[in-house]
Amino acid sequence: MDIDMPGTAASSGGVSGSPGDACVMVIFGASGDLTKRKLLPALYNLAKENLLSRDFALVGFARPDWTTDQFRERCGDELKRFAAGQVDPEVWHWFARRISYVRGDFGDVSAFQRLKGALADADQEHGTRSNYLYYLATAPTFFAPCIQQVGNAALVDEDGHWRRVIIEKPFGRDFDSARALNTEIQKVLSERQIYRIDHYLGKETVQNILAFRFSNGIFEPVWNRNYIDHVQITAAETVGVETRGGYYETAGTLRDMLPNHLFQLLSLTAMEPPVSFDADVVRDEQTKILKAVQPFDDREVLLRAVRGQYGPGQNGALGYRQEPLVSPASRTETYLALKIFIDNWRWAGVPFYIRTGKRLARRVTEIVVQFKRAPFVLFRKTAVDRLEPNRLVLHLQPEEGISLSFGAKIPGPVVRLGGVDMAFNYSDYFNATSQTGYERLLYDCMLGDATLFQRSDMVEAAWKVVAPIQNVWAALEPRDFPNYQAGAWGPEAGAELLTKDGRHWYDGPPPRDRSDGQRGAGHGEPPSIGRDT
Ligand code: BG6
Repeated sequence: MDIDMPGTAASSGGVSGSPGDACVMVIFGASGDLTKRKLLPALYNLAKENLLSRDFALVGFARPDWTTDQFRERCGDELKRFAAGQVDPEVWHWFARRISYVRGDFGDVSAFQRLKGALADADQEHGTRSNYLYYLATAPTFFAPCIQQVGNAALVDEDGHWRRVIIEKPFGRDFDSARALNTEIQKVLSERQIYRIDHYLGKETVQNILAFRFSNGIFEPVWNRNYIDHVQITAAETVGVETRGGYYETAGTLRDMLPNHLFQLLSLTAMEPPVSFDADVVRDEQTKILKAVQPFDDREVLLRAVRGQYGPGQNGALGYRQEPLVSPASRTETYLALKIFIDNWRWAGVPFYIRTGKRLARRVTEIVVQFKRAPFVLFRKTAVDRLEPNRLVLHLQPEEGISLSFGAKIPGPVVRLGGVDMAFNYSDYFNATSQTGYERLLYDCMLGDATLFQRSDMVEAAWKVVAPIQNVWAALEPRDFPNYQAGAWGPEAGAELLTKDGRHWYDGPPPRDRSDGQRGAGHGEPPSIGRDT
């Protein structure tokens, strides 16, 4: 697609496809999982695509007592494990020479002086021009202390060069802690320097929501309460909490998924067209959506928010309470479904149903826009017993594509209608390279484009929506946990959230699975409308 999207020419002033600025990237927490699984492969991919400046260096900062050589060697081994394909020795050789290591604790002032020395060395050796990108791949308790140390070491001042900080999630545990964290870090950094990451925004298909909505003239006119009956946003996982029971016990699905990933999907789907793709313009529109979410009062939490926890499933699947590091009496939720309203002119009265959870029936992230039904009047005297609404589905993962369902006449003398789909699969059109999702985010940060990062007011607006749900759920312990079987579509109450409105969750197959001749134009006889597909 040849359009100016955030982070390219339109907003950054950089030329689309040209390398990021010369800089040193410092990874705090460089011995952890994120570095080996995501950051190193992403940097390597950028280097391979010539999107990393030739004047680049990487400094790993972590506790283990390693030398630079040892750290480099580990990076090489890990890259071989986690890069998507074969590691090109030439690219790796170039990259490895730019890596150094500083051993240190976040509480240790002298470690930050050593870091300062390492940065000065990198500037000299690699021409990195004093531009520093700090990546906080640490536990959240270290976010503020680490930024303070960097500030105390006079490593954040911008004077003819830039200094930026990427902060991993979770950003706060609730509204108060998110606001306190914002206040702490803004004592050291200006908002312009802060890049709060949400890895959903690194996904091509999530970025495509903007391209889809705003580069096609046919959707915008019908993208509102006049034509849309409701919207469903699903982020379902088949995996359980795996080794993350310790973290999950302190988080739960609400904190883990809603204020960040799901609200990004919500705001991109519902926002007004921005007047440009400039970072603040796009984020202003997203924030307006979060601020327009109708607040939940206590009673509404009970009516419009559902929580669940998985119990044991078939084939010996463990229940949440049996997972490692999870309390056998845990009341932590692993499923969440919500009905929300956006109180603005475009969306008044249109419900947005959101659900997410672990150990659900299928791994799928998608946005379903269901249009209002056509009037039935013309079909009264035919064999058709009702009309199905049109559905536009944005398939975000694992299938990537867009499909639109509509009714068509089944050939024959009797008037009957069948549900058919027009389906677009990314892989049929574009050669998607295997990416971690972090490439784009790191690249944008190196170009100074914050469009795909969360701004402080966005984060706070999101937590504000979540707050009443957190409060009610904390006050009223769930009595029915576990309330769904591992491998099911969540608790009954999740389905009832829609059935009591005369609707149901769309659990249709992803576009690929439609080659079975049951669906899709031209493939045999489509299911007759009247059947609940
Ligand atoms: C993470 C959550 O942020 O997102 C995980 O902490 C969740 O619990 C993950 O599994 C989902 O991301 P993705 O990219 O697999 O949809």
